[in-house]
Amino acid sequence: MGTVILGTGSCLPKKVVTNLDLEKIVDTSDEWIRTRTGIETRRVGGAGEKTYQIASAAAHEALIMSGLRVDEIDLLIVGTISSHMLMPSCACFVQKEIGAFNAFAYDVNAACSGFLYGLDIGDKQIRADHDAKVLVIGAETLSSRLNWQDRNTCIVFGDGAGAAVLGYSAEEHREVVGVNYFSDGRLWELLYMHNSPSTNPELRVEDNPGVHIVMEGREVFKHAVKAMEDAVLGLLEKTGIAIGDIDLVIPHQANMRILNKVLERLELPKEKVVLNVMKYGNTSAASIPIALDETNRADKLKRGDLVLFCAFGGGFTWGATLLRW
Ligand code: UT7
Repeated sequence: MGTVILGTGSCLPKKVVTNLDLEKIVDTSDEWIRTRTGIETRRVGGAGEKTYQIASAAAHEALIMSGLRVDEIDLLIVGTISSHMLMPSCACFVQKEIGAFNAFAYDVNAACSGFLYGLDIGDKQIRADHDAKVLVIGAETLSSRLNWQDRNTCIVFGDGAGAAVLGYSAEEHREVVGVNYFSDGRLWELLYMHNSPSTNPELRVEDNPGVHIVMEGREVFKHAVKAMEDAVLGLLEKTGIAIGDIDLVIPHQANMRILNKVLERLELPKEKVVLNVMKYGNTSAASIPIALDETNRADKLKRGDLVLFCAFGGGFTWGATLLRW
């Protein structure tokens, strides 16, 4: 008994951008992108598909599945680093859009780990108040935060949103079994995004290249593999669960090579892992809830299944959650 996911939803922008499309913008090739990342296509937002709009569509789907009314939501969290405004939060825009006026709403800035950090906050809220209902969303339009001349980043990221409604279940063996979360600000320079230049000259940051993602891809790669592996092993140790007992793994869809390395090190068979990075690229905070929703709607989750989530992102931020469905 404990926190459970009552409903899931997702929303992907309509426009599909292929690797061949990117060949026309930067010096790259379909072959390079496929072999180095596994990515074949990604979605890019258009009119009516701002971060809060796709987040709201995903939330709407999750609410329908949960069977709850929107006014029953007490807390609304959005993991994002690409809201169209700095203030109000994306969560407040979602609140307005879907009419969740009994909730308090805020964003979590944890890059690709944003959804899982939000899930952890939601779980703790429900542990404190069993009547609480929490809507957690991961949503990004990173297409608005990319330097489209930088082939190191513009081929990797994509847009999308996913959502989950959380509540308490008194049923035996359904709960968040354990979590293992970390961050390390010392490594920020490997993956970051500036703000717009300060209007106070005294606070101006030197060498601000603009509001877009800057990444040392190879270094991020190495840290991501090690961090996710360690977070999962630490979580298994904490919970006393063996890797072989896990039924399904829903990892952050960073890059196929990163995921293959993590799976190899953890000795996890590919059949147990949800992979959709080929279709959507790296959608940062949205990647796990999109993959979760697709898995859920394909009826691949059974009551009592042990589901492992793990993520890694800018900050650095990373960690893992183990949930009994
Ligand atoms: O969600 C967490 C956040 N981020 C990530 O998970 C991303 C982590 N990193 C990665 O996915 C990979 O590091 C990348 C896909 C970004 C890059 O792949 P890589 O295998 O690490 O390539 P690299 O940066 O080591 O570059 C190898 C070569 C370089 O050329 P030289 O110096 O060997 O001549 C790059 O200039 O590949 C070149 N290169 C490209 N070539 C064609 C870099 N990007 C491209 C490109 N197309 N798009």
